[in-house]
Amino acid sequence: MKKVLVVGELNVDIILNNIDGFPEIGKEILAEQMTVTLGSSSAIFASNLCSLGADVTFLGKIGQDQFGELIEDTLQKKGVKTDSLIKSKAYATGSTIVLNYDLDRANITFPGAMEHLNAQEVEDGIFAEVEHLHVSSIFMQPALKSGILDLFKRAKSCGLTTSLDPQWDPSEQWDLNLQEVLPYIDIFLPNRAELLNLTKTSTIEDGIDSITDVANIIAVKDGAEGSYLINKGKTEWLPAFLNKNVADAIGAGDSFDAGFIFQYIQDKPLIECLKFANLTGAINTTESGGTKAFENKDRIMEIAQTRFSYSI
Ligand SMILES: Nc1ncnc2c1ncn2[C@@H]1O[C@H](COP(=O)(O)OP(=O)(O)O)[C@@H](O)[C@H]1O
Ligand SMILES: [Mg+2]
Repeated sequence: MKKVLVVGELNVDIILNNIDGFPEIGKEILAEQMTVTLGSSSAIFASNLCSLGADVTFLGKIGQDQFGELIEDTLQKKGVKTDSLIKSKAYATGSTIVLNYDLDRANITFPGAMEHLNAQEVEDGIFAEVEHLHVSSIFMQPALKSGILDLFKRAKSCGLTTSLDPQWDPSEQWDLNLQEVLPYIDIFLPNRAELLNLTKTSTIEDGIDSITDVANIIAVKDGAEGSYLINKGKTEWLPAFLNKNVADAIGAGDSFDAGFIFQYIQDKPLIECLKFANLTGAINTTESGGTKAFENKDRIMEIAQTRFSYSI
């Protein structure tokens, strides 16, 4: 199995539940419940990939503070290697305050240190220790984004396979040159909305058509509607392992990515990668948050069996 390097954003989520009402300037309201936990898509991906059984190293930027310690500690407990984390003296660890109202959320993010990770800080030396590079949340990391082409080119020239989940662009500018970067990405993992925004199209078919000549393999997540695999001009679709009793969908896309990459780094056929991705995406939705259902391999297998009649 190939060893994986994850380069991505790291932050802490402060989640407030059962809130009195909406906050108003000059007033104070109460929340009944609070959870402080490791946030960020890249961390969910790395943790869950590790729980599935992969060897995973994380390279990201945190501050020299208590939130940074919480992040390092949580990743380590999940089995993710943290020796390559960069601990900035200049910047504080980022955090997101999540205000939960029933099924909807209002978030405020302070990006902090993760905004300042740049591609040159991912040195060639680390590529000698791994065989696959995964990058996520490119729009949350402007310094990394400006060097993304160089990063993927270097990884490819060191013989790595590569994947990218672009994730949402909070600025909604969707400024990423796909024509330039996709040739260096083996697996491109957008969800439907991200694909359409990035390609400025309005259907999955048009979105795929617009990049198929430069892309290698594309896997498009479409929530409960399943997912698509595009390889060498051919598109295949697989249904979701439908969960009609969703706890929440936080991290479902990251768990989908983890499932896909877990099979890919074992050289499994691509359609099996996609099917397993649908399974891990669905497993994610059976518990709240992105990592709870992926506590360990036994728990993952149990949920697969009891909720989706699937034996891993
Ligand atoms: N209700 C559901 N039942 C089963 N699987 C789901 C459900 N919702 C999401 N998933 C799985 O999670 C994956 C990612 O969800 P999606 O919302 O498309 O991505 P993202 O989290 O990036 O927005 C889907 O492709 C699917 O496999
Ligand atoms: Mg996503």
